Amino acid sequence: MTSKVDLLDLDRKYLWHPYTQMKDFEKDNLLFVDRADGMFLFDSLGRRYYDTISSWWCILHGHNHPRIKSAIKSQLDRLEHVHFAGTTHEGAIRLGERLVDLTPDGLARVFYSDNGSTACEVAIKMSFQYWKHMGETERKGFISLERGYHGDTIGAMSLGGVPAFKGPFDALTFDSYRIPSPYCYRCPYEDKPPVELSDRQGIRSLDCSLGCLGPLEKLLADKGHEIAAIILEPLLQAAGGMIVYPVEYLKRLAELVSHYGIHLILDEVATGFGRTGRMFALEHAGLTPDFLCLSKGLTAGFIPMAATITTDEVYNAFYADYREGKTFFHGHTFTGNPLASAAALASLEIFEQENVLHGLQDKIGALQSGIKRFKKLPWVGDVRGIGMVAALELVMDRKTGIRFPPEKRVGQMIYKDGLKKGLILRPLDDIVYLFLPLSVTADQIEDILDRSLEVISGLSL
Ligand SMILES: Cc1ncc(COP(=O)(O)O)c(C=O)c1O
Repeated sequence: MTSKVDLLDLDRKYLWHPYTQMKDFEKDNLLFVDRADGMFLFDSLGRRYYDTISSWWCILHGHNHPRIKSAIKSQLDRLEHVHFAGTTHEGAIRLGERLVDLTPDGLARVFYSDNGSTACEVAIKMSFQYWKHMGETERKGFISLERGYHGDTIGAMSLGGVPAFKGPFDALTFDSYRIPSPYCYRCPYEDKPPVELSDRQGIRSLDCSLGCLGPLEKLLADKGHEIAAIILEPLLQAAGGMIVYPVEYLKRLAELVSHYGIHLILDEVATGFGRTGRMFALEHAGLTPDFLCLSKGLTAGFIPMAATITTDEVYNAFYADYREGKTFFHGHTFTGNPLASAAALASLEIFEQENVLHGLQDKIGALQSGIKRFKKLPWVGDVRGIGMVAALELVMDRKTGIRFPPEKRVGQMIYKDGLKKGLILRPLDDIVYLFLPLSVTADQIEDILDRSLEVISGLSL
C-alpha cells in the first residue's frame, strides 16, 4: 500500500492546487485529509480539525450526512448520468419544482449548470441575449461592484472586483462599469466612524446616507439605457473580504436599477441555502431579481451543481420557432446531473424535516455575539458578520486601519496556527472568517471561538 508520505510526494510531483502557491509546500506538507464526519475533517493520523469554512462554503448539514449519502446511493443504482439536451429525468424535474417553490414569486425557470462561475456566466449571457431578442441592442453594458466576486471563468471574472484574482488577466476581460463596494469599515463617503447597527442575526441596517450609491445614480442617469444588467452578491461580499453591508443598500440599489429597466442578477452562490439565516439572502430585502445564481450549498456540498433561476419574461423572449435563431446555445456536460439532483433534493428535505432554519436562529445569535469578544485584541480593526458567517479584519494600526504588508503573510500564519489548534482557518489575506456549516452546535461554536481566540491572540505580529 502507498503510505501517506509517498502520496504527498506524488502530489508534489503530479498536482497543481487551486489558489495555491505550490512553492509554499516545497517543505511543508499539504493537510492530507483522510475522512470527514459532521463538523470534522480527519487527517491520516486520526487528528481532527473543525471545518470552519464549510469546505469553501458549501457544506451545510455537516460532512457525511446519512440522508444525503443514502439518496446518492439509491440514485446510483438507477441512473448516474445522462446528457440534458433532448432528455430529462425525475430528479432534475422535482428539484426544479422545489427551487421555483422556494424562491420568490416571479422566478419561474431553472437552468442547471455545474459550478458557481457557470451559474453567473449563464445569467450574464441570458441577459445579454434577452435584450437582443427584445430589439434593445444598445443594452450591452454590465455593472458590478468593487470587491465583488462571481467566479474565475472569463465572463464572471470580467465582472469581478477583487484585484488580486483579476489583475493578471485584465487584458482578457471585457469592459464593464464598476461601482464602489459598500465596505462600511473603509467607507470614504461618511465622516463619522461606522456605527454598529447590526441585529442579533448580523443584519446591518442604515446608519448612513448611502453615499456609496452616488456613482451608480450618476452612471444610470448617463447610461441607464445602455445597461443590460447589474450583478452583485446580496448582503455579503464573500471572497472580496466577507464584507457585510446594510439591507437598505440592497433595497435602494434594486429600486434604482428597476427604474431604468435593468436586469438585477443576484449571485447567491455563497449566501444561498440558509447561510444568512434565511433560505436566501434576498429575503431580508424582500427582492425578486431577474436572475438568481445558486451553487455551493445547493447539494449541501456533496456533488457539484448549479442553477440559474429566471423569470417567465426572460424565458419567453427565447421561446420561438427554431428558425428565428432565439435558442440559448449554452450548456455543460454535467448539466442537471442525476446524482447531484438527488443530493440537492435530500438536502432540501433535511431543511424541512430537521427544521434547520428555525434551529439556526439561536446558533446565529451565539456566533454573532461571541465574535464580538475579539474586538478587544489590539490588531482587530473590524468585527462583522451575518448569519453563520463572522469575520475579523486584522490591521496594523486600529486608528488608521492600515493593513499589514502582504509579504508578512498574516493569513498564512493564521492557517498554520489554526491547524495546531484543530481548526481549518483560511483567511482572505488579513480577514479571518468563520463560515460555519448550519449543523454546528452551540457548544461547537463556543469551542471554535475559544480556539480561534487563542490563535489570533497568540500571533506575534
Ligand atoms: C458569490 C460567488 N459567486 C461565484 C463563485 C464561483 O463559484 P465556483 O468556485 O463554484 O465556480 C463563488 C465562489 O466562491 C462565490 O463566492
